[in-house]
Amino acid sequence: MTTPHHGEDFLHDLRLRSAAEGGVFWLDDGQLAVFEPAAARLVSRTNWDGLVMSDRLVDMIRRRRSTTVPWSRVRAAWLTQLHTLSTGEHTAAMITRMEQVVDTRLGDDVDLVLLAQDIAVRSVLPVALSGLTVRESALITRDLEQKLLRLIDRHPGRGPLHHVRFAAVQVRAGLVVRRVLRDRASGRRVREPDLTDPIVDLLPELGMDRALDVVTAVLTAIGGPPGSAAASVLYEFARNPRWAQRLTRELRGVDRAEFCAAPARAAPVTHRFVKEVLRMWSPPLLLVRNARVSSDVGTTRLEKGQRYLVSPHMIHRDHRVWQRADTFDPDRFLPGAPHGPADRTCYVPFGWAPKRCIGADIGTVQLMALCHLMCTRYRLTVPDTDAVTMACRFAPVPQHFRGHIARR
Ligand code: HEM
Repeated sequence: MTTPHHGEDFLHDLRLRSAAEGGVFWLDDGQLAVFEPAAARLVSRTNWDGLVMSDRLVDMIRRRRSTTVPWSRVRAAWLTQLHTLSTGEHTAAMITRMEQVVDTRLGDDVDLVLLAQDIAVRSVLPVALSGLTVRESALITRDLEQKLLRLIDRHPGRGPLHHVRFAAVQVRAGLVVRRVLRDRASGRRVREPDLTDPIVDLLPELGMDRALDVVTAVLTAIGGPPGSAAASVLYEFARNPRWAQRLTRELRGVDRAEFCAAPARAAPVTHRFVKEVLRMWSPPLLLVRNARVSSDVGTTRLEKGQRYLVSPHMIHRDHRVWQRADTFDPDRFLPGAPHGPADRTCYVPFGWAPKRCIGADIGTVQLMALCHLMCTRYRLTVPDTDAVTMACRFAPVPQHFRGHIARR
């Protein structure tokens, strides 16, 4: 997904223009903003309908067609695999991995954005790619980490040398993925219940380069939004002690097995809290797409090759769509709440079919698990919550968000 950088002022202007122009309007640089809920849904449907993977590079060079692989085939393979990964046992294993990350930082004064990122990525990585050696895992994590630092404007270094190092890590991470795919296909490595595994079966049709692209798409997807959402959960948790207490009251009564078996049923208040965090602070803020086909978007004509922008965030903060759109209130997700979503097009933290996020369920459970840990096992202290502000990078990113975590 394309995720441009933009600041708070830019987003504020977009909101004003969107309100004035009915949610669909041309930006000065010739991109069409599609922030009206029904139009965003339609343009996504029209644009991605019948999407097939691009030809392999080797075939392009030889001017021949590759085996056609519909994107829906890749998604179906992922979703089937995710079905087997959505058990209480897998959730419990993910929570254990989250604890392992937190336990290494107990008592330290930490940057909570980076900690949230670490918790999210390290706990979900095995869902995407598992069975790695310690070295391989460290390389993949480093690649994701350095990409994230760029996305949130925390450049770990600048200059040509830094770019070379950045590229070197990226290339070596790609080689790890290739090796895993090759080894699993040849039986040198055991098959694992992760999202890479069904791609091994598709290797003959995809070829190695396209298979690598598919696995990279998942790794990129877990490298950004889950960590950003986890930081936003901690942010609202720290800023809303009343809600933190409500969650603690609920979660203290829910043991781990019960939580893992059916999180939303076991902890409905926590579920509403996470849904509201994802409404207020949906990552990524803007998605830029190339129009694959010409289509009508409302009264506007979008021609093939032009670009358009969609944004869950813009829809979630639109006062015509949500009452008190800028107020954090998880109870708006109670059935029949007057300030709740009017229909399904209004709440889209995971995007739109046919490209909707495949990790929506795991992502939600992971955020609920973070709440569970903060309410039952750990205590989060942020000394100066008033100093914490939200900045708009590729996603909302809390600034000056430091604190420490202790065992309860
Ligand atoms: C709270 C956490 C998450 C959020 C907010 C989130 C959000 C999103 C969004 C907005 C999209 C773009 C949808 C569109 O283009 O309409 C997306 C795509 C995607 N997400 Fe997530 N995501 C999260 C977690 C995850 C997890 C845990 C995984 C993997 C296990 C994942 C895998 C993907 C993939 C593979 C795509 C691309 C789908 C495609 O191109 O067909 N996401 N996500």
